[in-house]
Amino acid sequence: MSIKLVVLISGSGSNLQAILDACRDQVLPAEVVAVISSKADAFGLIRAQSAGVKAIYFQKLEGEARRDYDARLANEVAGLNADYVVLAGWLRLLTSAFLERFSERVINLHPALPGTFPGLHAIESAYAAFQRGEIKGSGVMVHLVPDEGVDNGPVLATQEISFRAGETLEQFEARVHDVEHKLLVETLKNLISNRAQAL
Ligand code: GRF
Repeated sequence: MSIKLVVLISGSGSNLQAILDACRDQVLPAEVVAVISSKADAFGLIRAQSAGVKAIYFQKLEGEARRDYDARLANEVAGLNADYVVLAGWLRLLTSAFLERFSERVINLHPALPGTFPGLHAIESAYAAFQRGEIKGSGVMVHLVPDEGVDNGPVLATQEISFRAGETLEQFEARVHDVEHKLLVETLKNLISNRAQAL
């Protein structure tokens, strides 16, 4: 039986694309059953449609409280029978109203190492710290999301990335994304294989 993934996005979806390609190429023994976006114009929705995957814009209702949105979202995801929920550039903080429904099954990708640069603009912040001579490297992490902590939780995988002398932010950013695409797929592959062995 194929593992079912639901991928939550808010933007370009290049990490989603890496997952879709890995499923198509059978590198990842999984199926993306739906892509859900918090933004109507997220390019990731087009990527999903192009791959023949259900693409859902999950709109916040007028005046809706965060927990109510999350509870509705949880119902939607539960209806898709997802084994794992992958946050790949999902720009909304998820509350326990969502997370408690999918314990140990929500996976987040963060473009920095554990405990560093949580929240938005992690790549830019790391690059700025490098420019100030404060750090020599940064990295990427994939982790479980147990609670409402931002970009924090049990680490599944990390990869360090050293800065290169004279590289621009754009060059560094491209390297980070490249690492993200590979690390996310690799981590999902390991999770799925460990799960199969445990059964
Ligand atoms: C990635 O850098 C991810 O780590 C962060 O948001 C970005 C999403 O990029 N959480 P994309 O939409 O997958 O291209």
